Amino acid sequence: MSRPYLQILFFQELLLLLLLESCYIADCYDPLDPNGNITITYDIISWTTETDGYWAKVTIENYYQYRHVEKPGWKLGFDWAENEVIWSMTGALATQSGNCSAFKYRVPHCCQRSPEIIDLMPDAARINRSENCCRNGVLAARDIDPKNAISIFYMTVGNLPSLWTGKTPKNVTFMAPGPGYTCSPFADYSPTIFPSVGGRRETQAIRTWKSTCTYSQFIANKAPTCCVSLSSFYDSNVTPCPRCSCGCQAQERTSLSCIGDTKFRGSSLPVGEVEEGLVRCTSHMCPVRVHWHVKNNYMYHWRVKLTVTNYNYAANYSKWNIMVQHPGFSQATTAFSFNSTTLDTTTSPNEAALFWGLEYVNGELLQADNTGFGSVTSEILLHKDRKSFSLRNGWAFPRRVYFNGEDCIMPLPDVYPMLPNGSCGPLTSLQNHLVLLFMLLVLLHNFHLEQ
Ligand SMILES: *[C@@H]1O[C@H](CO)[C@@H](O)[C@H](O)[C@H]1NC(C)=O
Ligand SMILES: *[C@@H]1O[C@H](CO)[C@@H](O)[C@H](O)[C@H]1NC(C)=O
Ligand SMILES: *[C@@H]1O[C@H](CO)[C@@H](O)[C@H](O)[C@H]1NC(C)=O
Ligand SMILES: *[C@@H]1O[C@H](CO)[C@@H](O)[C@H](O)[C@H]1NC(C)=O
Ligand SMILES: *[C@@H]1O[C@H](CO)[C@@H](O)[C@H](O)[C@H]1NC(C)=O
Ligand SMILES: *[C@@H]1O[C@H](CO)[C@@H](O)[C@H](O)[C@H]1NC(C)=O
Ligand SMILES: *[C@@H]1O[C@H](CO)[C@@H](O)[C@H](O)[C@H]1NC(C)=O
Repeated sequence: MSRPYLQILFFQELLLLLLLESCYIADCYDPLDPNGNITITYDIISWTTETDGYWAKVTIENYYQYRHVEKPGWKLGFDWAENEVIWSMTGALATQSGNCSAFKYRVPHCCQRSPEIIDLMPDAARINRSENCCRNGVLAARDIDPKNAISIFYMTVGNLPSLWTGKTPKNVTFMAPGPGYTCSPFADYSPTIFPSVGGRRETQAIRTWKSTCTYSQFIANKAPTCCVSLSSFYDSNVTPCPRCSCGCQAQERTSLSCIGDTKFRGSSLPVGEVEEGLVRCTSHMCPVRVHWHVKNNYMYHWRVKLTVTNYNYAANYSKWNIMVQHPGFSQATTAFSFNSTTLDTTTSPNEAALFWGLEYVNGELLQADNTGFGSVTSEILLHKDRKSFSLRNGWAFPRRVYFNGEDCIMPLPDVYPMLPNGSCGPLTSLQNHLVLLFMLLVLLHNFHLEQ
């Protein structure tokens, strides 16, 4: 790899770091998914006279292209403006009933001032269900499975201070399942229109409020969870994940959350329940590693092998996805054992592809166990754009990789696999001179033989 290019790459890296730093301060958004958000829509559908309140529909929509809500699912919280209670719910439940002793004849579902609401389990009774409910709070990413990127529940709210005057719930919180989301206050929107009578009639909500929740890795305050390693057919050296990408192995093994070493054979894995967050000991200490191997260079195509490895002893990733940014994805791309799509470049400015598992094949990235690690792998065939394709200067390696929406730590460009010396690049003037000298010698030699 030539020096000036390395310097440019290094400079880019520095710039990126600076950018990241500055956007951490000003609540960063992901430039590849700038419009991503989770929108909570609160529709008052009708007033209810028998409970002095209203009937509401709450819709949670995940507009993130490649960030999903994993098990144990979302948890929605808010503070009632007054002393409202929830009489009943379908499609979700409040985790605590609270103090309902003021209600003598009929007991509400929840009397808490700050209720916490979660989704129902898939086996919920029919009477408690609503459309788009009961997935244990799992919300798929929009670009992968838009039908399952939405949750809906209904609730009957009562005990309003006066009739026909709902007040917006305050202090909205959204856990998915951990922290990281910040929600805007509910604001008035034009009423939602609902189709009815098979689309031949439209009804509208009495009032519609919306809150938007956005994710920030800074607020989540999470250590990185993933790193990238690289290799290629033209260099036998593998570029490993940077040391301590996700944490460092403690010297003294007291606070350790990792077991086993490179020669791990499983003997030290505790029997029974394995504590959450326990990973295999590695120099990078990441729960997940993504490996990008440049495998073949054909006339019209090039081939990459992509492998994701799970070093967790107690976590399966049921709806994993990886997003890879690389200019090569502007060309036709075929993934053989993964499902894939390219990101819409009208919203994000760079070529990027999204990969996820095939159902019943590798849709689940399994935990590590005594016998080895969970891993999923696929070969990817990319059409070559002869103008931009190159094996030089690390072009064939990804610019950025995300696992489940989280940024993966990349190695620095100066340790990328290198093309062997001498096989490429124009000859130096010294080399030119040597070649000429050699040819001259051969000529002289031949001349001598003929004599
Ligand atoms: C939330 O995402 C949707 C879809 O991308 C977008 O239309 C909407 O403007 C976003 N909301 C905010 C407040 O950014
Ligand atoms: C919202 O949260 C703030 C700070 O925790 C609190 O002071 C306020 O009372 C809350 N609002 C309501 C309506 O409970
Ligand atoms: C429960 O609510 C009743 C009536 O509002 C109140 O008198 C009682 O003190 C509350 N109990 C607790 C434990 O807060
Ligand atoms: C299901 O509905 C029944 C009848 O409305 C109710 O008693 C029960 O608490 C509900 N269960 C859940 C989990 O919401
Ligand atoms: C992960 O999946 C395997 C195989 O299906 C199962 O045995 C294991 O209990 C799962 N682990 C967790 C933490 O759910
Ligand atoms: C690929 O993903 C799409 C969208 O989620 C899904 O409809 C399709 O069934 C998936 N294909 C396979 C083979 O899993
Ligand atoms: C290529 O040359 C550089 C210095 O010019 C050297 O550091 C490197 O080890 C060489 N690589 C190989 C594979 O010979």
